[in-house]
Amino acid sequence: MIKKPSIKTITVKSLVNVLLVLVLALLLITGLNFRSLSTRTIENQALAHAELVKAGLTAHMKADIMDRRDYYLNEIRVLHHVNTLDIIRGDAVTKQFGPGKARERGADAVTKQIFDARKPVFILNEFSLQPTVRAIIPYIASQQGEFNCLACHNVTEGTVLGAVDVELDIREYRDHALWVMLVLVAVSVVAFTLVFVNTSRTIKKHVQQPLETLIDNAMIAYKQHQPVSSEQFDSREFSRVADEINLFNAEILAHQDMLKRKNEELLALNDEIESTLRETIYTMGVIEEKRSHETANHTRRVSLYSSLLAQKAGLTPREVELIAAASPLHDIGKLGIADEVLLKPGRLTEGERQIMMNHAAIGYAMLRHSRRDVLVAAGIIAYQHQEKWDGSGYPQGLAGENIHIFGRIVALADVFDALYSPRVYKQAWPLKKVAEWMGEQRGKHFDPRLVDIFLASIDEFVAIYNQYPADKETEMQFQQEAG
Ligand SMILES: [Fe+2]
Ligand SMILES: [Fe+2]
Repeated sequence: MIKKPSIKTITVKSLVNVLLVLVLALLLITGLNFRSLSTRTIENQALAHAELVKAGLTAHMKADIMDRRDYYLNEIRVLHHVNTLDIIRGDAVTKQFGPGKARERGADAVTKQIFDARKPVFILNEFSLQPTVRAIIPYIASQQGEFNCLACHNVTEGTVLGAVDVELDIREYRDHALWVMLVLVAVSVVAFTLVFVNTSRTIKKHVQQPLETLIDNAMIAYKQHQPVSSEQFDSREFSRVADEINLFNAEILAHQDMLKRKNEELLALNDEIESTLRETIYTMGVIEEKRSHETANHTRRVSLYSSLLAQKAGLTPREVELIAAASPLHDIGKLGIADEVLLKPGRLTEGERQIMMNHAAIGYAMLRHSRRDVLVAAGIIAYQHQEKWDGSGYPQGLAGENIHIFGRIVALADVFDALYSPRVYKQAWPLKKVAEWMGEQRGKHFDPRLVDIFLASIDEFVAIYNQYPADKETEMQFQQEAG
């Protein structure tokens, strides 16, 4: 089975995803804004430096002390954050006044572009160990304002006279920016962890644990018939589920009770049907017994002998039940034999004997259409109770284990009862003689194993005979017991 994730895992996972996106977006926006703000601040500072230099130089020019401007420039160069400070002399100025002093230089490739662009340029170098910003601010000749450049410079309006090239150290800014970002990340991680832990705990305490308790309690409630207490849950939802489970369980239990009652009724009904069937079969056996003028209780005793023998031979309880219920019909086929033959006193002719032998097949024909197991067993018994182990019996002449065990058992029980009871044509044999004769028939008429079992417990068979002897009418008593 695939192991499914818990509610906690699903919820926390989804929350983490959302938070992660949120935090990343927040960090990105904050970082970019912060960088843009810092860059502008730095650029403004560079611009302020350059404007200061420009204002200073203009002041020197106004005061006509340009030859002393280096004192001023050197003071600016050693100011905090200033790495380098250069004055770039434009071509027009060089042409009018010649090359500048040692600290002035001509326009290089980068500064040439600024001369063409005619506006300040900032070059940010933020990823080095020594981050810097370089600002190059052009001087543009103008006769507007309070000072007319064109009065001294021999150039046209708008000519770029030169530029201030200043490089500032921005490490302090950069480090501060990094530090702020680091603090932001740290705060985010802490907040993230807090939300994560708190959500996990809340789900565990208010969802997972109550859910597990509910499942356990529901099982106990069902098995031990006691309601789930809704008081133990903090949340309204779980209390409600507990109440619903109780209602559901009560309904199920009521249903179960009803089904149990119905089932008991059905079982009782089934028992009644079975006992009615047994009684009917037995009564049919008795009818046959009366018509054949059999000795009293023959049917009853054969049934008891057969079930005793079946038990001792190791048949299943159901088979014992079947043979007990079905054996009363062993001679039911005699109902199909004419009175002249069936009730003829004295010896039968060979023809009459043949007619008499038909009772086995007639009995089978009467019973074989039924699919009820008792009647199927009765059919087998009616058909095979006259067969002999050595194959000399009738009607099929079956031998050995080809004869159904029911047939072998009833054959022995039937013959024992015939010998041990008095009949109209003979006295009852003494037990010793019966035992001897039965022993002789071991492997001939009877299954040798059954003979052994019978002889080993012959007293129990005699006890059955004594309980329902041939010379007493015990039918009423039996009927009462069976009922
Ligand atoms: Fe028979
Ligand atoms: Fe019989």
